Amino acid sequence: MPAEEKIHPLILALDTHDLQEAREFLAPLRSMLRYVKVGRRLWALGGVPFLKEISSQGFDIFLDLKLHDIPNTVAGAVDALSDLGLWALTLHAAGGRKMLEAAVSARDDADSEMVLLGVSVLTSLDQPAWETVCPGSVLTEAIKSRTRLCADCSMDGLVCSPLDLGMVRETAGEELITVVPGVRPWKVNDDQKRSATPAEAIRNGADYLVVGRPIIQSDDPLGAVSDIFIQMEEGFRCRKR
Ligand code: C5P
Repeated sequence: MPAEEKIHPLILALDTHDLQEAREFLAPLRSMLRYVKVGRRLWALGGVPFLKEISSQGFDIFLDLKLHDIPNTVAGAVDALSDLGLWALTLHAAGGRKMLEAAVSARDDADSEMVLLGVSVLTSLDQPAWETVCPGSVLTEAIKSRTRLCADCSMDGLVCSPLDLGMVRETAGEELITVVPGVRPWKVNDDQKRSATPAEAIRNGADYLVVGRPIIQSDDPLGAVSDIFIQMEEGFRCRKR
């Protein structure tokens, strides 16, 4: 597939076992994929040098650290990460208004264009699991209030489940870009509880999809990516908005 077709807003969650596996995995995908999400495991193994290495291969890096700490500590981390040329960074919206505002200020003070994304509620949590974290609280209300908070704090976007997209748009309109994990191109039984297909997620208004294991664990990763692209195109054709 020619490089000019790197247009699909698909983010590969590069959740491989180690750096070498990640390198081997990415090499054949260079011409197809633009966005790569690095999570805590590869960050712990490879740190900044690994980010620079894959960025030099033409990938836009989404560093998924889900920062969640007191405002001063988060601001310090955002400041340190702001000049790495990252495409995006995640923070937990549960960290509250002051933490999110401190992150946005740190990014702006550093004159960085890094996109700041709030994580509303993990897509691995459903209502029963949420009850154990926040007894008496309704999951959907938490998602709405965290969505509003992210918009009010001038965050750029939100990470949310494909099933939350309608609610997110109702709450924040077009103020926030939506980055959507919990995408399952085919039926599997794993830890993602609030999932949908790529076509459904795009049709419901997702701006970017995040997919990991369905690609990483596939016997044919290139075929899996192509399949997801086809499903995304179908979603764009049937888009509600
Ligand atoms: O393998 P899978 O497609 O489930 O990968 C989803 C990725 O998105 C994982 O790297 C996970 O850490 C991340 N993520 C998520 N739910 C969130 C935020 C990020 O699954 N709310």
